[in-house]
Order: sequence, then C-alpha cells, then structure tokens
Amino acid sequence: MAQLVRTQLLFLLVGVTAVWAARPRTELLSVCMDAKHHKEKPSPEDQLHKQCSPWKKNSCCFPNTSQEAHKDISYLYKFNWDHCGHMTPACKRHFIQDTCLYECSPNLGPWIQEVNQSWRKERILDVPLCKEDCQQWWQDCRTSYTCKSNWHRGWNWTSGYNQCPVGAACLPFHFYFPTSAALCREIWSHSYKLSNYSRGSGRCIQMWFDPAQGNPNEEVARFYALAMSAGALPRGLEPLLLSLALMQQLWLLG
Ligand SMILES: *[C@@H]1O[C@H](CO)[C@@H](O)[C@H](O)[C@H]1NC(C)=O
Ligand SMILES: *[C@@H]1O[C@H](CO)[C@@H](O)[C@H](O)[C@H]1NC(C)=O
Ligand SMILES: *[C@@H]1O[C@H](CO)[C@@H](O)[C@H](O)[C@H]1NC(C)=O
Ligand SMILES: *[C@@H]1O[C@H](CO)[C@@H](O)[C@H](O)[C@H]1NC(C)=O
Repeated sequence: MAQLVRTQLLFLLVGVTAVWAARPRTELLSVCMDAKHHKEKPSPEDQLHKQCSPWKKNSCCFPNTSQEAHKDISYLYKFNWDHCGHMTPACKRHFIQDTCLYECSPNLGPWIQEVNQSWRKERILDVPLCKEDCQQWWQDCRTSYTCKSNWHRGWNWTSGYNQCPVGAACLPFHFYFPTSAALCREIWSHSYKLSNYSRGSGRCIQMWFDPAQGNPNEEVARFYALAMSAGALPRGLEPLLLSLALMQQLWLLG
C-alpha cells in the first residue's frame, strides 16, 4: 500500500515538473531587443506613423522612429534605398514595413540573439516570415535595381549613406535575389527566413496585418516560445528522473 502511494507521488511529481518545464518562456514574450532605437520594454503608442500603426497597442518603437521608418536616408541608419536609381514605391513599401516590423514588433523574442556589434547588442535570426509576405516583397521589387545581396555589409559609406562599392553592378533585383527565399534570407544576413506556412496559420510572422483583428504575431511568438521550452525539456528532466530512480531504489531496499 505504502509502495503504491509512493509510486503515485512519483508520477505526480514528474507530471508537475513536466508541466512546469513546458510553460512558454515568458522572457521570450512581449519583449524588445536591445538594439539601436528600440524601447526598453514594449508599451502602447497612439501616435505611430502610417505603416507602423498596426503596432499601436504594444510597440517597441517610439513615434519618432516610426516617422523615420518612412523616410529615405533617415537618421535611423542613413540607409539609401535608391542606391541603384529610383526604387519603385511598390517595392519601397515592403522595406518600410520591414523596418516597422523590426523596430516596433514586441513578438520577435523567440528569435533574438546576442551579437557583438558596435550599433546593437541583440539581433533577430531566422524569423519565419509568412510565405505570402516574402513572395509579395520579391514580386513587387522585380522592377527595382540593386548591386548587392547582403545589405548589411560591404557598402561604401564615405558619403554618409550607403553607395554601391566599386565593382558591384546595378542589376535587376532578381539577379541578386533569384527567389523570394533568397531575398528574405540574404538581405539582412539571415534575420528572416521564408516560412513554409501561410498568413493566418499562427505559425509564421506576418510583416503585414490588420490590427482590427489583433496582432497575429502574438500567437506565433507563444507557439515558438513553447516549442523552444519543450525542446529543452528532456535535458532539464534527465537529472530529476535519475535522482527519482535512485530514491525509489533506496525505498525499495528499505
Ligand atoms: C525619440 O523619442 C524618444 C521618446 O520620446 C526619445 O527618447 C528619443 O531621444 C527620440 N529620438 C530622437 C533621435 O529624437
Ligand atoms: C566583442 O568584440 C570586442 C572587440 O572586437 C572584444 O574586445 C570583446 O571581447 C568582444 N566581446 C564578446 C562578448 O565577444
Ligand atoms: C566611395 O565613394 C566615393 C564617392 O562617394 C568615391 O569617391 C570612392 O572612390 C568610393 N570608394 C570606394 C572604396 O569604393
Ligand atoms: C512544407 O509544406 C509541405 C506541404 O504542406 C510539406 O510537405 C513540407 O514537408 C514542408 N516543408 C518543411 C520544411 O516544413
């Protein structure tokens, strides 16, 4: 009888531990990365500008950052979208949206990584962008030109903004980004990757969303945060199971 109670207690303990260990890691949810312009913590912002306004309810960007996100060679990064002549507005709106997502989203926690860079302490890595968002970006930039596939490195900054380095020819986007997957992966050094999932699936990050339906990326962050803590479960549970097994041996002997 006593043995039965002990066994039941053991199972209860293992169960409770498993549930505890499988909670989503709250430090991955509703957080801002430690980077150049981000707020320390997300909070509501009524005055977010145009394309950044979907993040009003909970935002990592200040209103001034959201304003700048819409400008050419803004003070944010002095980045020149028109480095190979005029970038079409249809193309540029995706870069504005990309900037809004990067600066304002509090739902990128599962993909934040520490980096040793002069201008930021953290970056995002392999954020799964919904395939339609990535494909539309690539489609709409068909008629624009660029000279590089990695827009983080290798520019000539002597004029104060990025210019094409010597020997990098201005060619249609599709020369440097042959697929939508290549665009999302290469342009910001693997900050994004093309997800296999579609908008509305709850399994990929949407660059574009209608805030009237809430922010769909909250659920996505919760899902991946949970998946990541579940992935860490076996390692965390191993020592516990081992000690429980030992205790049971001792009880059985006693
Ligand atoms: C943007 O606004 C925030 C909050 O009001 C302020 O702390 C920050 O200095 C501003 N940045 C610039 C460049 O004006
Ligand atoms: C970051 O880089 C600097 C300069 O390259 C170096 O001194 C420092 O040790 C590095 N820190 C880490 C944590 O790698
Ligand atoms: C950088 O651009 C400037 C013009 O803005 C040019 O004079 C210089 O030769 C360029 N340097 C390199 C290394 O491409
Ligand atoms: C992508 O989706 C297809 C069909 O839904 C599936 O067969 C395939 O395994 C998925 N690939 C990855 C990498 O998840």
